[in-house]
Amino acid sequence: MQIGIYPGSFDPLTCGHLDIIKRATQLFDKLIVAIARNSEKFPLFAVEERLAMLEECCKDISKVEITSFDGLLAEYCRKNNINFIVRGLRAIVDFEYEYAIALMNKELAPSVDTIFLMSKSEFSFVSSRMVKEVASYGGDISRLVPHYVSVKLKEKFQSR
Ligand code: COA
Repeated sequence: MQIGIYPGSFDPLTCGHLDIIKRATQLFDKLIVAIARNSEKFPLFAVEERLAMLEECCKDISKVEITSFDGLLAEYCRKNNINFIVRGLRAIVDFEYEYAIALMNKELAPSVDTIFLMSKSEFSFVSSRMVKEVASYGGDISRLVPHYVSVKLKEKFQSR
């Protein structure tokens, strides 16, 4: 059984992430979409809120399992018999960062390979940070995130 994992902060999930999830499910028997901790980021949404987003937006995609974990990605892969890590590449600027992470994960878990999927061009400029920035000023992000996420972003910024 080939198991892939698509890890990320997903703060929040965007249409770009969703596109990668849909395409990655074609490659594996099971795709685990996992919220992991990036120690350099201070998330807007709690892990539970991000899990709810992923559950809602992936409910019609088969072979997907949603989870979150603490600790090292490489360790999580080893413990759960995961063979492949999936990451999206939007532009050349992503490459250096992703290359370093992939090499470190290979060092920590030699049996696990990282696979990169190119983002669709229409989402190649989208990032969670920019979506949050635009939403915080009331800008229209409805084409960049799933409807559920745009509602949650509105609620979050109205309550502030
Ligand atoms: N469409 C839209 N946006 C995309 C995208 C796509 N296809 N692919 C990447 N992005 C954006 C994300 O929105 C995010 O934007 P942001 O920086 O504005 O938030 C950015 O690109 C990348 O973030 P993300 O994919 O969420 O990953 P990350 O860099 O925040 O986290 C982890 C990477 C979580 C996988 C990594 O930190 C990790 O493995 N943590 C566990 C601990 C560990 O093992 N650490 C050692 C790693 S070597």
